[in-house]
Amino acid sequence: MKQLPNYYDDLDLTLKEILGLIERGVKDRKSGFHNFVLATSSFENEPDARTVVLRGFDSKKMEISFHSDLRSHKISQLNENKSVCLVFYDEKKKIQLRIRGKSNINKSFHEAWNKLTNWSKRCYLTESPPGQESEKPSSGFPKEFAVDTPTLEQTKDGLKNFGQIRVSISEIEWLFLASQGHRRALFDVIETNGNYLIEGKWLIP
Ligand SMILES: Cc1cc2nc3c(=O)[nH]c(=O)nc-3n(C[C@H](O)[C@H](O)[C@H](O)COP(=O)(O)O)c2cc1C
Repeated sequence: MKQLPNYYDDLDLTLKEILGLIERGVKDRKSGFHNFVLATSSFENEPDARTVVLRGFDSKKMEISFHSDLRSHKISQLNENKSVCLVFYDEKKKIQLRIRGKSNINKSFHEAWNKLTNWSKRCYLTESPPGQESEKPSSGFPKEFAVDTPTLEQTKDGLKNFGQIRVSISEIEWLFLASQGHRRALFDVIETNGNYLIEGKWLIP
């Protein structure tokens, strides 16, 4: 049987593990937490979900960020309803996080944009909005950089389509799978005057 980790029966160590995993997920492309599933509500109040890349985590403000094209469906949905659920799963560690919170869209946010490579900025240069029907198979990019990386000058048009989305975390649900018995816990994030208190409790898995 696999040895149990030190956080198995300890809420404080579980929270420490959570914060460390999210922080690593931002920097380490190979981390199981580098991508997560972002769930939103559609206009018809139907569930919708897709994978995005974890771009930032501010543990002082309990805020997670990701990037997206401002013309995409998810952005229209978030403009209508800020509530989101983020689902992370690390296959090796057998850890799932279900994070709930409210989103805020930073349109054309220079600071995040300037950190991107020209290759990444290219994602924001499609001529038509993502999700638009196309008569033929297409990447959506103009001919000049259908294959090649755009120059810095060419990427400038992408900024108007670029958004950084920040999620203020209100709760984190933890699930750890173990043959000795799973563990599940809920952490509430309570904000008072810019200070964040996190209260955890165990749940039956
Ligand atoms: C591994 C992976 C990472 C992705 N990362 C992002 C991302 O960071 N931002 C984004 O908007 N879309 C990302 N996508 C594409 C989305 O999953 C989705 O297909 C697209 O954004 C359209 O979603 P929407 O119509 O709900 O807006 C990613 C897809 C995959 C498979």
